[in-house]
Amino acid sequence: MSKKFYITTAIDYANGSPHLGHAYEKVLTDIVARFRRLMGDDVKFLTGLDEHGQKVQMSAQKQGVPEIEVCDRLAYEFQGLCAALQISNDDYIRTTEVRHKATVQSILQELYDNGEIYKAEYNGFYSVRQEQFVTEKEKVGGEWPPIYGEVTEVTETNYFFKLAQYREWLVDAIKTNEKMIYPRFRGADVLQFLKEPLNDLCISRPKERLGWGIELPFDRDFVTYVWFDALVNYLTAAGYGTAEFEKYWPADYHVIGKDILVPPHAVYWPIMLKALDIPLPRHFLVHGWWLSSGTKMSKSSGEVVKPLDLIEQFGADAFRYFVTREMNVGQDSEFSLELFMSRYNSDLANDLGNLVSRLLNMGSRYSGGKVPAAEIEESPEIELKQLWFAIQKELIPLFEDFQFHKAIDRIFSFISGINRYTEARAPWKLAKSESTEDQAALHTSLATMAEALRLSVVMLTPIMPEISDKIRGLLGTDNFDLIEGQLEWGNSLTGKDLGEKTILFPRAESI
Ligand code: MSP
Repeated sequence: MSKKFYITTAIDYANGSPHLGHAYEKVLTDIVARFRRLMGDDVKFLTGLDEHGQKVQMSAQKQGVPEIEVCDRLAYEFQGLCAALQISNDDYIRTTEVRHKATVQSILQELYDNGEIYKAEYNGFYSVRQEQFVTEKEKVGGEWPPIYGEVTEVTETNYFFKLAQYREWLVDAIKTNEKMIYPRFRGADVLQFLKEPLNDLCISRPKERLGWGIELPFDRDFVTYVWFDALVNYLTAAGYGTAEFEKYWPADYHVIGKDILVPPHAVYWPIMLKALDIPLPRHFLVHGWWLSSGTKMSKSSGEVVKPLDLIEQFGADAFRYFVTREMNVGQDSEFSLELFMSRYNSDLANDLGNLVSRLLNMGSRYSGGKVPAAEIEESPEIELKQLWFAIQKELIPLFEDFQFHKAIDRIFSFISGINRYTEARAPWKLAKSESTEDQAALHTSLATMAEALRLSVVMLTPIMPEISDKIRGLLGTDNFDLIEGQLEWGNSLTGKDLGEKTILFPRAESI
């Protein structure tokens, strides 16, 4: 029976259009999901939209429209982005859906009934921008950092979740499960945060201050705090409360950006689950940020790259290739259009695209549009095969370790190897000779190029699904369901019909 694999992205805030950061996270998660499917797993891939909270309420008020209208418009945009990027999610959750509201309320009720939630008066400082209470601890040099925006003193009655009592349990859970957080150094950030005592978490907002949220089932004058609502999406979509839940939970990977690991995902979430007696997610895959001029690309930074513009001009696969090639998962990366163009032209248009055109062109001229049989094996073939054998062994482990940038580097070094091989064999010269040896070398070179190209795109499939399928089609072969067996050098293409010459990546002069 195939292994289940439940993977999620963060759900995006419905307070601005999608940008490169959102697009990247979806591509990264999609690559893992597609890879796991090709390894034979039964994958459930979830993404969605986080629709409640003060920011959404404020933006609706500013526009003079109901909140749901703002959310519907953004849901349309974000779902459009997923489609444009060829994201293969199995579900898209919106936190305003009935199924989600029901889960959040049932969880709140259970925690309340179990004595994990209590009511208390609270006097403290509140940051509207972050939608949270802040304490003196957050001050830097006597001031609250600008990320908190305006901070005001408020006295309010609210509901609190008993977070503090779980600190030692959480420290222990993280220490004994070293593989929970990838990359590992992020686990140290969590433990550092947990060195200080925890405060109980205020999980309600009075309705007069925030109306746009899920009501507390035990007190209709309050709605729940946006993080408490948002995190639960992972349970809702797994079918919490139904038989399906047993199949999919625990989540195998929550893919998130580094800004939302501590405290929401690594502190609030495990404690919420523990209090509910639900198993913890197996792993967090924590990626870094796309930066623009050194700072995080975000709605408020102003300098955002609109992924849809790039996808429209260069195609989803070129976009997916670039963000995967340029990001070492876990680190940050600076986005630059110059680099995008140079990778597009040199790696995709030149190295890969030209190789495919060359093969199709020569196939139609010298071998009747079919892949000929390899007849000889001499040093050019031996060298190329050796290069493949060295690379082939590395690819699956690199994918399993999220080292996609390195996998791409290895694959493209092999593609360069195929180009060198083609130059060395120079089939166009061999075609001018009628000698038996030259004809055998000609056929062998075309067969070798075709097989090497087929191999190169096996592990590009999760990264560039459309182009990889297209290249296999042009080589006369079908797409596959499982990677198994696909990485072996063979002669499976002999006699296959090559496709018409085509330009896969037209050269781009400017954006
Ligand atoms: N709504 C919360 C997440 C709730 S998950 C239960 C949220 N939304 S967000 O829209 O601000 O961010 C969504 C995801 O995009 C986060 O994982 C975040 O880290 C990621 N990114 C947002 N900007 C980013 C970059 N500039 N670069 C890479 N990813 C970043 O947080």
